[in-house]
Amino acid sequence: MPTVMLVAGTRPNFMKIKPVLDALVRRSARVELVHAGQHYDHAMSDVFFDDLGLRPPDWHLGSGSGSVAEQTARIMSGFEPVLADVSPDAVVVVGDVTATLACALVTAHAGPVLAHVEAGLRSRDWTMPEEVNRVVVDRLSDLLFAPSSDAVDNLRQEGYHPHQIHLTGNVMVDTLLANLARARESDVLARHGLTAGEFGLVTLHRPANVDDPATLGALMAAMGEVASMLPLVMTVHPRTAQRLASSGTPAGLRLLPPAGYLDFLGLQAAARMVLTDSGGVQEETTVLGVPCLTLRENTERPITIEQGTNVLVGRDPQRIVTVAKEVMHAPPPRRCPSLWDGRAADRIADVLLEHLRTGNRPRPTELTVTAPTRAARRRV
Ligand code: UD1
Ligand code: UDP
Repeated sequence: MPTVMLVAGTRPNFMKIKPVLDALVRRSARVELVHAGQHYDHAMSDVFFDDLGLRPPDWHLGSGSGSVAEQTARIMSGFEPVLADVSPDAVVVVGDVTATLACALVTAHAGPVLAHVEAGLRSRDWTMPEEVNRVVVDRLSDLLFAPSSDAVDNLRQEGYHPHQIHLTGNVMVDTLLANLARARESDVLARHGLTAGEFGLVTLHRPANVDDPATLGALMAAMGEVASMLPLVMTVHPRTAQRLASSGTPAGLRLLPPAGYLDFLGLQAAARMVLTDSGGVQEETTVLGVPCLTLRENTERPITIEQGTNVLVGRDPQRIVTVAKEVMHAPPPRRCPSLWDGRAADRIADVLLEHLRTGNRPRPTELTVTAPTRAARRRV
């Protein structure tokens, strides 16, 4: 059987690789797990291995924090000898973080099949590091595993080879459905003195929201106004913790450390509404049917707005408060996107192993990709 290397580096990656790892092992593939080490605090890394029953990584690159360039360089330097040592048949990268890009670049130079899980998402906002990462990783990949039909449309419009594009569904949803019953049994509400349906849940970590003190201050003021209608708890990402330390917290908003997966899923499932700038949380609230206000100007996950409970509210405090009021009294209707059914990883494993078995490899270099470039977009 082939050897498949799976790469994870940050909090959301662990939820994405777990079902893929399990599906490959069920099919007797040899799996090597690499942790790039971009996230490293217990609450941003180890807790997910414990909560998800994810086996320890075979390789830990220990990249740590730094600028995007420093992290990319450290992860590439750490990953290159591991890839040479193991010489896998394929490398699977997930999502859109720095570790995803760095390992995709090394793989593209070294030669194994490269597969991207969560391909085709586009915010069309080139100021986001994630958008740069998504576009480049898709371009380097042999296999593009799209979570939703809008992602497939993006890839088709950009000229990718039809044989590369596979609509497989959403691996985050595989993990959610596999753990929801356990999460509902968690005592997280009692531990924090919360009652189901009587609180809102907040997460914020996008640089555009938290790096500028004035923007963060305005968002926190809006949270204060929402908290006067509905008590709020916010699990604070380390990027945000550094910035919040110098500003006050409004009354009615309780700050908590980053939560483990089961606790956070338990909080989401019981929340009256969620206010967030997270990508994964937009998807999870869609499946849970919990109203979600996304505090961003754009989203790479429009399907969660069209079919889920997500409302893109932007950063204007007045609009945030107005929509929060509306949603409290009339939650948005929802449907669940097709193939968000808990079986995405099985589909991915089937396609990947069949691809490796048949050696059918249209190389990305043979394609006529017509995607708008970043430079072309900047000239518009
Ligand atoms: C990264 C991803 C983002 C993703 C998020 C998930 C990139 C460019 N960004 O953002 O797409 O949504 O992870 O949570 O890859 N820190 C700690 N402990 C940790 C990790 C980070 O204290 O375990 C602090 C460090 O000060 C670090 C800062 O958080 O400089 C930011 O971490 P970094 O991984 O660079 O970006 P995130 O904001 O976490
Ligand atoms: N999450 C968590 N604890 C928290 C906040 C989020 O376990 O305190 C989970 C959440 O349920 C989802 C993932 O982390 O599975 C989303 O990660 P994050 O928001 O950091 O990144 P993004 O999805 O925006 O890239």
